[in-house]
Amino acid sequence: MSTQGRMEGLVVVVTGAAGGMGEAHCRRLAGEGAGILALDLESSATTARLAEIVEGIVADGGRAAWRTADIRDISELGAAVTDGLAELGGGPGRAPRVDAVVANAGVYDVPGPAWEIDDDVWNRSLDVNLTGAWNSIRATEPHLADGASLVLVSSTAGLKGIRGAGQYVAAKHALVGLARTLAMELAPRSIRVNTVHPGSVATPMILNEQIYRRLRPDLENPTREDAAEALAARNLLPVPWVEPEDVSEVVLFLSGPESRFITGQQIAVDAGLTTA
Ligand SMILES: NC(=O)c1ccc[n+]([C@@H]2O[C@H](COP(=O)([O-])OP(=O)(O)OC[C@H]3O[C@@H](n4cnc5c(N)ncnc54)[C@H](O)[C@@H]3O)[C@@H](O)[C@H]2O)c1
Repeated sequence: MSTQGRMEGLVVVVTGAAGGMGEAHCRRLAGEGAGILALDLESSATTARLAEIVEGIVADGGRAAWRTADIRDISELGAAVTDGLAELGGGPGRAPRVDAVVANAGVYDVPGPAWEIDDDVWNRSLDVNLTGAWNSIRATEPHLADGASLVLVSSTAGLKGIRGAGQYVAAKHALVGLARTLAMELAPRSIRVNTVHPGSVATPMILNEQIYRRLRPDLENPTREDAAEALAARNLLPVPWVEPEDVSEVVLFLSGPESRFITGQQIAVDAGLTTA
């Protein structure tokens, strides 16, 4: 019986790799044999986390490298990709081709009605969630193998509105248009481009006091359990959120050859949120 992983010999670039879902994607893809280039912002917390995740993958017998870059900065990101791939391949001039890109990094706020959103909050969302994903494609395109897969992480906010988060909804919807266009432009090279649309996912992005207060304005000090009640009411399936690993399963499927004829699609992992 072969123990060959589903991603054996393939190379995947993951942005936002030090965060909740990004970390889960790195671990799941590496567990199936993919070589991982893990990228995230430079900060004391994220840099240490990136190193830890990569060391864990290597200790388990996998291949991985990490670099820091702000995805808003195309030259910083381009250098991190080139440099990180060289390390993964064993030195300069030996950088492997990239078989999948998971443009996962993002930021979320619920600042209030769209007409009241500050310029800073609006611009940050568009810069990170939309331009950052575009930059992630631009920075990796010169390295892409024919037949590669691009996975842009949108949100259920890329399929429907969310009151109070117009800047996020606008950016996440725009990713769908970008992915559809890229799917057309890259199809001659058999490169596929799809968006993933998580609903609520148990990561620091939503499991924090600010979001609990937004979800339960009726309570003075809402807890995680109070927030869970509000979120569960939005889903068809009887859960408040899905786990990062549930999204990783779909990212794995879309990144690898099992989905070789799926392109230009929007796949929701949302416990029925967009159907409810
Ligand atoms: N958590 C949810 O409920 C949820 C739901 C739908 C979609 N999403 C999307 O899924 C993706 C992952 O979210 P998460 O929940 O894991 O969030 P998270 O906050 O745990 O992780 C996001 C990561 O992105 C990184 N990042 C932020 N700005 C960056 C920048 N400018 N350059 C490089 N890296 C940057 C952060 O450092 C962090 O490690 C995001 O695109 C998010 O919008 C999340």
